[in-house]
Amino acid sequence: MIVLGVETSCDETGIALVKDGRSILANTVSSSLKLHSKYGGVVPEIASRMQLESIGGLYRQALKSAGIKAKDISLIAVTTGPGLPGSLLVGVSFAKALALSLGKPVLGVNHVYSHIYAGVLRHYAQIRFPCVALVVSGGHTSLFHVKSFSDIGVLGQTRDDACGEAFDKVAKIMGLGYPGGPLIEKLAASGDKDKIRFSCSGTRGELDFSFSGIKTAVLYHLKAKSPKSAGERASLAASFQESAINVLINKSLLACKRKRAKQLLIGGGVAANNCLRRKFEAACEESEIKCFFPDIALCMDNAAMVGGLAYFLYKEGARSDLYLNTNFNN
Ligand code: KG4
Ligand code: ZN
Repeated sequence: MIVLGVETSCDETGIALVKDGRSILANTVSSSLKLHSKYGGVVPEIASRMQLESIGGLYRQALKSAGIKAKDISLIAVTTGPGLPGSLLVGVSFAKALALSLGKPVLGVNHVYSHIYAGVLRHYAQIRFPCVALVVSGGHTSLFHVKSFSDIGVLGQTRDDACGEAFDKVAKIMGLGYPGGPLIEKLAASGDKDKIRFSCSGTRGELDFSFSGIKTAVLYHLKAKSPKSAGERASLAASFQESAINVLINKSLLACKRKRAKQLLIGGGVAANNCLRRKFEAACEESEIKCFFPDIALCMDNAAMVGGLAYFLYKEGARSDLYLNTNFNN
């Protein structure tokens, strides 16, 4: 069963063809990131205009690189939210129009859940439910209990900024540019992570997160100490990164303990951070938990995770009408 995935929740436009929920036949992504960098964040109008211009070409490119014809597609899957309304509208309109013209079914998919699925694409044979999942991106930082892909419960979430948003804001106040995550990671590599002690604010829910306090702490540190040397700035980035990663690890392991889960799926843009991956792997090994990461390229927004997740949902009986209201029919 070949599923066409369509993803336009933020600044990326993704079109993918995925066979049986696990093999990626084509995965094309176009990003308008460069156009946003001078504004220090995504400008919704610019994002949706670029998506409108690129989506048709990406679709044709995906068919060509997979070596298949439109008639070979069994299902069209599209991200319906959460995301920027204008951007979502481009993908949803494209998917619906294609479904109507090809006479194929269309299925709406939740963007955050598709980030969880990105790790399954790589480790398909090893995943056992129920497990715990952490989605850590520019818009979300949430822990989930995944009983199956049609039965996902929220265990905790950020009460203010998402973790990726904190990376982006810290990078902005340090004058590094946008997106901040990769820039902080690069700078932190030559810094001393123990130089400054930052900590994330406590939350009432033990599995919730808060990242706005640590961002403000970095701002105050910059104002008070105005670190100028390259070494001092690298240590500031490393100390921030260390604290942010530690809180993600501690809460994820606590969630696994509470749910007696032995597997942890991690997805979202921040999961591309190599320091985070190494630290999670070490901490999970110590707690006898197996953690699974997507390929680095599939941490960021992409349509392969949409096509993959849709295959499972469809098999479990999920059907969407043309308004993209989804029900389970089995
Ligand atoms: O998943 P994603 O592409 O979009 C959302 O759904 O939000 O994630 C983008 C976020 C940005 O905040 C970006 O700074 C962060 O992921 N990010 C990173 C790294 N690469 C991307 N954060 C930390 N370290 C990285 N290497
Ligand atoms: Zn995302």
